[in-house]
Amino acid sequence: PSGGGGFAIADPELADEGRHQIRLAEQEMPGLMTLRREYAEVFPLRGARITGSLHMTVQTAVLIETLVALGAEVRWASCNIFSTDDAAAAAAVVGPHGTPDAPRGVPVFAWKGETLEEYWWCTEQALTWPEQPGPTMILDDGGDATLLVHKGVQYERAGVVPHPADDDPDEFKVVLATLRASLAADPAKWTRAAESVLGVSEETTTGVNRLYQLAAQGELLFPAINVNDSVTKSKFDNKYGIRHSLVDGINRATDVLIGGKVAVICGYGDVGKGSAEALRGQGARVVITEIDPICALQAQLDGYQVARLDSVLGQADIVITTTGNRDIITLDHMRRMKHRAIVGNVGHFDNEIEMAALQRMPDVQRVRIKPQVDEWVFPDGKSVIVLSEGRLLNLGNATGHPSFVMSSSFANQTIAQVELFTKHQEYDNEVYRLPKVLDEKVARIHVEALGGELTKLSKDQAEYIDVDVEGPFKPEHYRY
Ligand code: NAI
Repeated sequence: PSGGGGFAIADPELADEGRHQIRLAEQEMPGLMTLRREYAEVFPLRGARITGSLHMTVQTAVLIETLVALGAEVRWASCNIFSTDDAAAAAAVVGPHGTPDAPRGVPVFAWKGETLEEYWWCTEQALTWPEQPGPTMILDDGGDATLLVHKGVQYERAGVVPHPADDDPDEFKVVLATLRASLAADPAKWTRAAESVLGVSEETTTGVNRLYQLAAQGELLFPAINVNDSVTKSKFDNKYGIRHSLVDGINRATDVLIGGKVAVICGYGDVGKGSAEALRGQGARVVITEIDPICALQAQLDGYQVARLDSVLGQADIVITTTGNRDIITLDHMRRMKHRAIVGNVGHFDNEIEMAALQRMPDVQRVRIKPQVDEWVFPDGKSVIVLSEGRLLNLGNATGHPSFVMSSSFANQTIAQVELFTKHQEYDNEVYRLPKVLDEKVARIHVEALGGELTKLSKDQAEYIDVDVEGPFKPEHYRY
């Protein structure tokens, strides 16, 4: 990566390519462009120092430039080693008015194909503000930036970073090494950073789970907004976004005909529902695995077989995990799969598939087909094709969700950042959701952008169903 200290990306010369894509994406991101217009003269984020840890894609570049348009200073890292679009990263660094030699955009620390050590270095760089104690805001996806700050504070209080246990995941070992180095260099770095953070907004299911765990233990160090559970995030991005990008990833990786194949989707939450619909749309026979009887029943009434992975392993051509849980596809499962079965994950972390165990097996041979596509050959000659080393394949093998759906997610992110930055005194160190009226606002922008006509409530009708003519139109307990 090049950057000379101020940033670290693959190649600033890719900025033009990225800029063209950003221009097209802006048209597909009416949520963000509306917020830019709405706040054009207000600059509600003036004075904010936002550290972002979120896939450095074209859509994220539009988010970054929206935050800047609202007055913020921004530093960015990706939240996955494979998810960066190097052209988008270059365009974000160079900025709309800069050149590769004289960049005028924001410091980005991200490139496609980072090592784990590089990944955590990038995250630390995004959190390290020259001449400042730290960011005032974190915009997180999966919670890694929040985790680094919290673990850093924990070990600074203890005065020591523990040594990893042998069976700790490699990733955690890297986190500990990163924090050991920072503790030696500056024993109060993360404590100061945490004190400067006014709040965090979190993008995804897995990161939100981590936040609720921290809050339940009384350990959350600043207020948090759960963006994922805005209806216009999880019921759209997680579902319709994956409906687009899962098949995109499988196609770019393998080019295998999906029609006629048996595809197993593990998990039938929001991401699982979109995944199943996408593969069925391609003509696959889709089987669902679930632990939750409610989601299992939904799958059945949507027309899918519900089975245990063990029961269908011998038939499955494609197995995709979407659970946000660990050890869903084990090494033993992979051994027993059909020859050249395709294995992939779209849940946030790679531990849904027992990749660590696979990588440790001395008698299993890894054959690189192309970047982010590996054939793992077992001693009996049978193999499985694993996409993106078990990490989010829709971002590793393709470019993630399309702009329109990310517009909805990122409009919520922007609103959450403005809310926490401007009203942080009103929030405790707990996890909050945005009010429904803002959810409806984000939805309205996108309905209109698609040319939809909303029906207007009459006063009598509004009174009859006991809502305001202008909304919110549903009670909090409504599930959509
Ligand atoms: P969710 O909670 O709605 O769905 C997960 C489902 O998996 C639940 O229904 C749960 O009962 C089920 N599950 C849990 N353990 C299981 C097991 N052992 N076997 C079978 N099913 C099991 O969560 P959501 O929103 O669908 O997110 C899932 C994951 O995807 C999270 O890690 C989230 O962060 C990530 N995500 C990824 C995106 C992408 O672009 N690839 C986009 C949005 C979310």
